[in-house]
Amino acid sequence: MGQTLRAKIAGTGSYVPEKVLTNKELESMVDTTDEWITTRTGIRERRIAVSESSTDMAVHAAERALKSAGVSAADIELVVVGTVTPEMTFPSTACFVQSRLGIKSGVPAFDLSAACSGFLYALDVAEKYIVSGIVKRALVIGVDRFSEIIDWTDRSTCVLFGDGAGAVVLSGTKGKSGIMASNIHSDGRKWDMLYAPGKGRCPFGKENAKKDSDKTESAKKESAEKETPPYLAMSGNETFKVAVRTMVASIKEALKAAKVSADDVKLLIPHQANQRIIEATRQRLKLPKERLFMNLDKYGNTSAGSIPIALDEAYRQGRIKRGDIILFVAFGGGLTWSSAALRW
Ligand code: UT7
Repeated sequence: MGQTLRAKIAGTGSYVPEKVLTNKELESMVDTTDEWITTRTGIRERRIAVSESSTDMAVHAAERALKSAGVSAADIELVVVGTVTPEMTFPSTACFVQSRLGIKSGVPAFDLSAACSGFLYALDVAEKYIVSGIVKRALVIGVDRFSEIIDWTDRSTCVLFGDGAGAVVLSGTKGKSGIMASNIHSDGRKWDMLYAPGKGRCPFGKENAKKDSDKTESAKKESAEKETPPYLAMSGNETFKVAVRTMVASIKEALKAAKVSADDVKLLIPHQANQRIIEATRQRLKLPKERLFMNLDKYGNTSAGSIPIALDEAYRQGRIKRGDIILFVAFGGGLTWSSAALRW
């Protein structure tokens, strides 16, 4: 009997921009304090992509992942990028990455929109391509540049996010390592808990039926007020509760499908949104503190970049050894949530 084909992480890489934005600096931008941000979120600073685009960050992270896997761009047969802040509306950031890295023409490359769950969604899709034997090696990237969709005058959101990218090379293997179980979930009914309209105006849309120049001053003011701001909006409190509930459920589902228990997990690498969300999730799983990886103090919430950046750091710090069972879990706008259990 042939052995099961699995998808294993053969290499990791990440990239965060040079510019550091500290809590202290935010104090001079909005009505907040370092103390509030640190105690409510665990975040101390974040990185801002001043000169780097989403593609730039994705390419840097991918180059490091290829190097760590010891493979070249010519070996990649699929590119999936999880992002909600793509380089352009189209083509996909994945196509830009394909071109910049010199990945072969004809190799499928596409973006996937699942907000903060973007990387785990991309990992789940790439894994299916590998275990079904369609491709042997995939480049999976999570990247976001939330600094471009944040309202920098809104203290309830601007303190939470940062920019960055992470990547993995996923390879087919018949050995014991690899993804044992993964799940992805959505609930579009709760879309308005966390969203970013981020669109230009259509001149034919009903909101623009009457040209601005034809309007009275009060009508102009009214329509300006009605116009949806393009920025990220979030019901923080509600999101917090749903995040803990869905992440715990998603982890339990992955553990069950992988036929392992929480005791077997060597390291939980959760989406780095808020220390209190992560802590509540850890406690519900009864995982000891040392089996949890957190780096949000340095980067804040980098959305789809969050898990692969954390994974890359954990791996390079020697926190992951061959044979270890690792757990990923994420939650984000959509709503979306996802988890994966794998043997390193
Ligand atoms: O990737 C997934 C997406 N995002 C998340 O997972 C975020 C989920 N939510 C959270 O992390 C937390 O709900 C927040 C960090 C956003 C907020 O923490 P909280 O403990 O839920 O605070 P709150 O929203 O209940 O606000 C408490 C107070 C409010 O003042 P009042 O109404 O009590 O007077 C806010 O106006 O804190 C105020 N506040 C701030 N104060 C100083 C909100 N933001 C700030 C701020 N600085 N930056």
